[in-house]
Amino acid sequence: MLEHWYPKQVKLRNGQEVTLRLLNNTDTDKLYAFFHGLREEDRLFLRHDVTDRDLIAGWVANIDLRRIIPLVAEEGDKIVADGTLHLANYGWSRHAGEMRLVTAPTHRRIGLGTLVARELVRAAEELGLEKLRTHVIEDDVGAVTTLRRLGFVIAAVLQDWVMDQRGKKRNLAIMTNSVVQLTQVMEEWILGSIQPGFRAPPEGALE
Ligand SMILES: CC(C)(COP(=O)(O)OP(=O)(O)OC[C@H]1O[C@@H](n2cnc3c(N)ncnc32)[C@H](O)[C@@H]1OP(=O)(O)O)[C@@H](O)C(=O)NCCC(=O)NCCS
Repeated sequence: MLEHWYPKQVKLRNGQEVTLRLLNNTDTDKLYAFFHGLREEDRLFLRHDVTDRDLIAGWVANIDLRRIIPLVAEEGDKIVADGTLHLANYGWSRHAGEMRLVTAPTHRRIGLGTLVARELVRAAEELGLEKLRTHVIEDDVGAVTTLRRLGFVIAAVLQDWVMDQRGKKRNLAIMTNSVVQLTQVMEEWILGSIQPGFRAPPEGALE
């Protein structure tokens, strides 16, 4: 079903156009280049060592839409955002999914993160999920603000739960939201976000 939604051309609020599509099994080089282009501070706190090309090749070779919905935004032939929706499918979390999202440093604050998040929310809705969670570093202002403005709230903070690749520890925040609430918020936003000059509502305005 989701396969029929993509590829899709979208204009961002600064006029740049990107193509949203599902990751495919020829994407190893592009995805590797995308992760390689992240700033070191972004990579330090990703769960996996994305500088490991074999790891990326493994992801690309094992795409299974029943487990993970892998969405990318592409500009020209470059991936500029990567978002995934992770599904449990069985057990006590079968109604919940996990969202992971990264945008290229060159493409931040132009609504791309919100756009990819919105697509993942649509996918969650389509798949009948009720809840979404996402994990962020508690003091990562960009990530926490982006998610708060979508209505996510910090449900728990695990002290020193994240250790970066240099051994420094930070708190892990688990942020959650309901799919129904997200869908309502994002429909309003997305209409505004493609207008020139659109700014997100101030933090707290959606709570
Ligand atoms: C978090 C992240 C995905 C946001 O991506 P983005 O493309 O910049 O997101 P948007 O352009 O849609 O920004 C949405 C809003 O979040 C807020 N925001 C985003 N980055 C911010 C920052 N560094 N400081 C303050 N607010 C920020 C802003 O309110 C922004 O809207 P505005 O530009 O209209 O003011 C991106 O910063 C990223 O990839 N970070 C590293 C990975 C990560 O932490 N992912 C989160 C886990 S899900």
